[in-house]
Amino acid sequence: MNAKIIGTGWQLPAYAADNDYLSTIMDTSDEWIAERTGIRKRYLAKKETTTSLATGAAQKALEASGLQPEQIDLLIVATITSDTETPSTACRVQAELGAVNAVAFDINAACSGFLYALHTADAFIKSGIYKNVLLIGAETLSKLVDWTDRSTCVLFGDGAGAAVLTATEKGGVTAQVTGCDGSRWEVLSCRGRSNHNPVCREESELGYLQMNGQEVFKFAVKTVPLCIEDVLKKADLSAEEVTWFLLHQANKRIIQSVAKRLRQPEEKFPMNIDQCANTSAASLPILLAQMNEQGKLHSGDRLILSGFGAGLTWGACVVEW
Ligand code: ACO
Repeated sequence: MNAKIIGTGWQLPAYAADNDYLSTIMDTSDEWIAERTGIRKRYLAKKETTTSLATGAAQKALEASGLQPEQIDLLIVATITSDTETPSTACRVQAELGAVNAVAFDINAACSGFLYALHTADAFIKSGIYKNVLLIGAETLSKLVDWTDRSTCVLFGDGAGAAVLTATEKGGVTAQVTGCDGSRWEVLSCRGRSNHNPVCREESELGYLQMNGQEVFKFAVKTVPLCIEDVLKKADLSAEEVTWFLLHQANKRIIQSVAKRLRQPEEKFPMNIDQCANTSAASLPILLAQMNEQGKLHSGDRLILSGFGAGLTWGACVVEW
């Protein structure tokens, strides 16, 4: 049995901040941001939370799938910005949806989170333990970035995307590759709470996202093509046989470089980074759901989903639509 995607949905906050707005509150410009990254605007949560965005995307995906909330066996939220340290966002979304029969937990694999969640869901479906799975990538990165650090805060946005999966005999997710190099965790990280226990009493400082942008760039342009080649080999496919390459929306130049390395036309690499910026674990499911909504995905299409992020983590999978 494979996991097949039978419904998708996406949700963004109501408020959009364009590059010109950011240039009124910090020393930056539309030209700098757009040229280096392809980003023109990002959505920022005002009243929305990770839970509310996740729930909104999930409701749309469920509706499109034709399944009822009670039919979901497993609910996974990929996020690094849970509203509560505990319980997980997945538990709160389970309650919001009334998915009363679902086991629910979060996965923290940063921008690779949705791919890690997809791999996990596929394994549970293959083993026969669960049949119907709801996967959500949801983030409010705007609360994790340092708004005084122009080199990171302009890159990220908030949002959520979701997909409902069910067991299928043919097609669906046909190959997966995921990886991690924990020795390079400091390239991109966000410190957690410090320890206040009576024998430790660490200095307390708020942790914000810190990134060595150039190291992440080099890592991405090297690792993403390699893991796509790996997953193509596993699926016994050539790059030419792939209809769409959906890549994590972190930087337009990274996506263009991957297209070049794979010797594939850029038109096969859809992008929404200009509109949404980098929404971490939400980026792939938002792009997938938007393409599905626009009628760009057809039965028999072969999709590659691939991403990279903090950890360092990476992954790719082949989906037969
Ligand atoms: N506006 C204007 N100037 C800026 C800004 C800004 N927002 N940010 C930095 N600068 C300045 C710097 O201060 C520096 O100035 P200096 O030359 O006077 O010192 C100059 O611009 C160049 O800075 P660099 O950091 O060298 O810029 P670079 O060309 O490397 O681009 C960027 C930076 C866009 C972050 C690039 O390195 C990148 O995209 N890296 C990959 C990042 C990424 O993909 N992250 C997310 C992946 S993981 C995840 O998704 C969680």
